[in-house]
Amino acid sequence: MTTPAVSLTGPAAQERTATPRHYLMCPPTHFDVRYAINPWMDPGRPVDRGRAIAQWDRLRDVYTRLGHRVSLLDPRPDLPDMVFTANGAVVVGGTAFAARFRNPERTAEEAAHLAWLRGRGLDVHPSGTVHEGEGDFAVTSSLILAGTGFRTDQAAHMEAQELFGVPVVGLRLVDPRFYHLDTALTVLDDGRVSGRADIAYFPGAFSGAAQRVLGLLFPDAVRVAEADALVFGLNAVGDGRNVVLPRQATGFAALLRARGYHPIGVDTSELARAGGGPKCCTQEIRAA
Ligand code: ARG
Repeated sequence: MTTPAVSLTGPAAQERTATPRHYLMCPPTHFDVRYAINPWMDPGRPVDRGRAIAQWDRLRDVYTRLGHRVSLLDPRPDLPDMVFTANGAVVVGGTAFAARFRNPERTAEEAAHLAWLRGRGLDVHPSGTVHEGEGDFAVTSSLILAGTGFRTDQAAHMEAQELFGVPVVGLRLVDPRFYHLDTALTVLDDGRVSGRADIAYFPGAFSGAAQRVLGLLFPDAVRVAEADALVFGLNAVGDGRNVVLPRQATGFAALLRARGYHPIGVDTSELARAGGGPKCCTQEIRAA
């Protein structure tokens, strides 16, 4: 085999550095679609739980093989969406901003997250306003991007800014299919090593003003096509080098490769029946 010519000046020449992460996950032991709180959910169609469990097992194994630490939340039979741990909190520098869910169907998940976070000795702050954790908060080392429009109240953005002392930039979501920020935007590199955060997003999910704000803050961001966004391609988990994403998002994976990232495709199609992908199943615990 011949070695392909590599441009030393193009983005592919960029050195990407992975850093080890700590993730909180919850096995989909009781996963189901019993109610509809987003347009992807159809309670009339039974889910294949065995398939969901196999897909989730594989996702956890991918993280472990990459050297990341995975902690587990105990699944509860009455909480079919509990697999989506990203929604339970946003944790930055050992401080946890615990969620208050929009829909009563998920309210009981709050206590499980609070207990877990407190048990880890984190500085835990229950929320005064509705917010769904990393579902609507995307953390970089210099600022936090925050979604609103469907789930998280705008007031929670200010609460997060007061709590973390990091600028929180509000972004309005306008398409109900992309009801959480993490369905439309992902942090590829939070900048903790490179000093420069890198993101990818699907512009059509955002208001015109939010698109302009993203353009100003991240002029070099990866803009992802709707076809990739519709298979939850942006519901991805990056560690600075590796990007775990739904394997159906082939266009996005090619863009990532061209930028020097290492995309790892996983199948989360059964979990997508509840409106989730890899990131929804993954909450990052950022230590002090
Ligand atoms: N069925 C869940 C809900 O609508 C899915 C949550 C997906 N999580 C996420 N981080 N986007 O709340």
